[in-house]
Amino acid sequence: MDAIKLRPWQYSDSEDLVQNANDMEVARYLTNKFPHPYTLEHAGQFIQFANSGTPIHMFAITLNNKAIGGIGIHPQDDVMEKNAEIGFWLGRAYWGKGIMTDVIPQMLTFAFDNYPITRVYARVFGNNIASQRVIEKTGFTKEAILHKTIYKNGEFLDEHIYGYRKPEVQQ
Ligand SMILES: CC(C)(COP(=O)(O)OP(=O)(O)OC[C@H]1O[C@@H](n2cnc3c(N)ncnc32)[C@H](O)[C@@H]1OP(=O)(O)O)[C@@H](O)C(=O)NCCC(=O)NCCS
Repeated sequence: MDAIKLRPWQYSDSEDLVQNANDMEVARYLTNKFPHPYTLEHAGQFIQFANSGTPIHMFAITLNNKAIGGIGIHPQDDVMEKNAEIGFWLGRAYWGKGIMTDVIPQMLTFAFDNYPITRVYARVFGNNIASQRVIEKTGFTKEAILHKTIYKNGEFLDEHIYGYRKPEVQQ
């Protein structure tokens, strides 16, 4: 495979970000924080936000240094402080090539190396077969299915909750 890497977002990624993110086939599987249509202004705001965390925990997925998608880890607080949510997406042109299967384990390593967490979780829409497959392939366990909790584009959808436990921790 060509060089797939994770790195912080750069303002010079803005046009590639819009090109890949401005796609209803991507947005339909994500929360409404991921806008559609996705404009250059959205890209600029997102890149500023993505670089405001310490450590940076939202990364561009790059193919030969060109941004083709994004992945982030979001530590929780209060009684959920030992948990972090993972979110990810890829431009449609790059689907089905094993890229996310390659990238998710790198993010798990980053998450457990940088935060005192014991569980990474993903909330996947019931209609998102590709994401369910990739998350299962990378070692997550389906922990729950919540009935029609998600309302996206005028439709109620099931929420599939997947967890990945820190390997050396007994719970
Ligand atoms: C979900 C997504 C990230 C998958 O990334 P990807 O790089 O295409 O996934 P991979 O190529 O690594 O495929 C992983 C597995 O999923 C399967 N898969 C991929 N796309 C699929 C599809 N549309 N339908 C069924 N299975 C699919 C692959 O066949 C592979 O399984 P296999 O090895 O058993 O054949 C990508 O489709 C995407 O960005 N979708 C839109 C945004 C999104 O859904 N984000 C996740 C929100 S929770």
